[in-house]
Amino acid sequence: MKAAGPGSPKAPLVLALETSCDESAAALIRGREVLAAEVFSQIAIHGQYGGVVPEVASRNHLLALRPVLEATLEGAGLRLADLDAIAATAGPGLATSLMLGFSLAKGIAVALGRPFIPVNHIEGHLLSPFLGEPTGPRDSVGLVVSGGHTLLVRIYGTGRYRLLGKTLDDAAGEAFDKVGKLLGLPYPGGPHVAETALGGDRRRFNFPRSMLGSGDYDFSFSGLKTAVRYLLPKHVPVPVADVCASFQEAVVDILVAKTVKAIRAESVDTLALSGGVSCNLRLREQFAAACRIEGVQLLLAPPALCTDNAAMIAYVAALKLEGGAVSQLEAEIEPSLNASRWLNG
Ligand code: KG4
Ligand code: ZN
Repeated sequence: MKAAGPGSPKAPLVLALETSCDESAAALIRGREVLAAEVFSQIAIHGQYGGVVPEVASRNHLLALRPVLEATLEGAGLRLADLDAIAATAGPGLATSLMLGFSLAKGIAVALGRPFIPVNHIEGHLLSPFLGEPTGPRDSVGLVVSGGHTLLVRIYGTGRYRLLGKTLDDAAGEAFDKVGKLLGLPYPGGPHVAETALGGDRRRFNFPRSMLGSGDYDFSFSGLKTAVRYLLPKHVPVPVADVCASFQEAVVDILVAKTVKAIRAESVDTLALSGGVSCNLRLREQFAAACRIEGVQLLLAPPALCTDNAAMIAYVAALKLEGGAVSQLEAEIEPSLNASRWLNG
């Protein structure tokens, strides 16, 4: 298929399915315009177990995918036959979850005789802030902060990246979720910690800002989580709001400090912030302030595109098609797709 330009009415109509973890998502995109996007979140189902149970997730993808796909097509007033290409998340993620969206997308591509485009979930997050930008991804630094990843990446353009740093242990979202669990907050802890922090004193506890002087761009959040764990028995009743606010401030401080360092070293004028944790209001506020001081443009996706969604997957597929990508029906899921290997080729 010949790819048309992003603004052209002939830009390919791409359907993407995303099932890397516990969200069953579908989206339709034409060029830069998201025509419809649906997400069925399994949070309520996994909440009772305190975390994602892979087998339960795959069973629920099986139940949710068809209605989610139908609602997406209906939302855009389109039919499967209208599609020009079909994309799906290939990894990283849970094998038994990835497999469902990936197989369904492949099946649709085969049945329609259209190209199948596998997409890296992290690339979806990384490029999601550019979705509103007519020119697409450009020279910038990207920070992906999700439940599974914390990556600082130099972006040169679509498909051209260099890994600057990553977490050596817990991802930022994982740290939020673990602290939420320690405090008895519902799963996933991140949004609940953030909400509870609103009423807290962020200067009450001076939690460690690990690795700030490490001279590289790597992160570590497990010591911070342990510091919270050791603090709790010393304060009864636990000042939950103050702990949340002080913990959140430490995470934000670490992320901002390392990212600013990277922005300066790379001499870029754009920061693209993505992943579920980038919904965090304090994080947004502090990054906005830092970017103002640095004279850097901060690109943020709307909250619905920060957490797992299929629009970001459709967007990457559309960019790949514009770049001349061809169908990859032979592709397989890659549950443990390694960020270092992928980003540094
Ligand atoms: O990107 P995402 O939906 O899934 C992964 O690919 O991991 O990120 C989910 C993560 C969870 O750890 C969740 O707790 C965190 O993002 N999160 C937040 C907030 N909203 C979601 N963390 C802190 N503050 C928030 N407001
Ligand atoms: Zn994600």
